[in-house]
Amino acid sequence: METRTFGQTGQSFPILSLGCQRLVDEEGCSESQAVAILERALERGIRYFDTAWIYSAGQSEQRVGLVARDRRDEMWIATKVWATDRDGAKQQLEDSLGRLQTDHLDEWRLHNVSTFERLDAMTAKGGALEALIEAREQGVIRHISISGHADPQIQVEALRRFPFDTVLMAASVLDHFIYSFAEEFLPVANAKGIGTIGMKVIGYKKLADYAERALHYALSLPLSTVIVGCSTMEQLEMDLAVAESYKPMTDPERLALFRDVLPLVKPENMPWKAKDWGNPTDWVTR
Ligand SMILES: NC(=O)c1ccc[n+]([C@@H]2O[C@H](COP(=O)([O-])OP(=O)(O)OC[C@H]3O[C@@H](n4cnc5c(N)ncnc54)[C@H](OP(=O)(O)O)[C@@H]3O)[C@@H](O)[C@H]2O)c1
Repeated sequence: METRTFGQTGQSFPILSLGCQRLVDEEGCSESQAVAILERALERGIRYFDTAWIYSAGQSEQRVGLVARDRRDEMWIATKVWATDRDGAKQQLEDSLGRLQTDHLDEWRLHNVSTFERLDAMTAKGGALEALIEAREQGVIRHISISGHADPQIQVEALRRFPFDTVLMAASVLDHFIYSFAEEFLPVANAKGIGTIGMKVIGYKKLADYAERALHYALSLPLSTVIVGCSTMEQLEMDLAVAESYKPMTDPERLALFRDVLPLVKPENMPWKAKDWGNPTDWVTR
């Protein structure tokens, strides 16, 4: 699989990485299935694993931890903090380290920074960012990150306020059409040389009928790596097959995909663009 440099972290990763949010009971993925998917991903060369404190009340982190306790050295683990305040973030870091059965994180992210109000709270005095900076000074975490999938200008502003090492961003073909991170944010991040991770590749399942082409589209963006949120071994195998045979998408292929998915570009199909997740009519406004 093609590998790409991960910003200024000194690491390179294969273009395909694993989002671990969906390795949980509520997605129909049992503990043994989750462990098998994580082990298979490692066997096939995947090194980068994304999870979060908030996913399924910790079950996603716990399942990554079941593999990390024996194979930590092979894994780059990124998890996220939901709390906006410093003390809350410190508590969540303790929870995450315990569930992940590790004494350090490779990357710790401010999670779902989808409004300027949340960015303000997290970067204010006494905000969560202070806990990330402290943890990096103490060597408990290695890199500081932020995620967003609503309005790319929030992440552009975040980079003005703080030199984040990496950013996790929306990179689905649907995102091309509205508040495009690929158009508005990625050039800014790449000019700064920071690591970029794409998500929402299967459009939060809405692009399942176009999964191979949707993944091909995201892999063809100038991102460092792309996380896909598999919940079955079959999905992982399909995604590996696409990534292992990767060649950049041609312009005619991209235009044909735009034409085919255009009817899906509606608020109800893109809830991650809403300020308030779960209220898809509430689109982000600037
Ligand atoms: N703000 C944030 O930081 C944030 C937010 C959301 C997610 N994430 C991260 O991003 C990862 C990806 O999540 P996402 O929301 O971006 O979802 P996604 O990858 O766009 O969609 C994944 C879902 O699409 C369906 N699917 C159909 N065919 C597939 C295939 N070949 N390969 C994979 N999935 C296929 C599956 O649903 P079925 O199993 O139901 O078929 C799967 O669970 C998560 O695991 C998480 O780590 C981060």
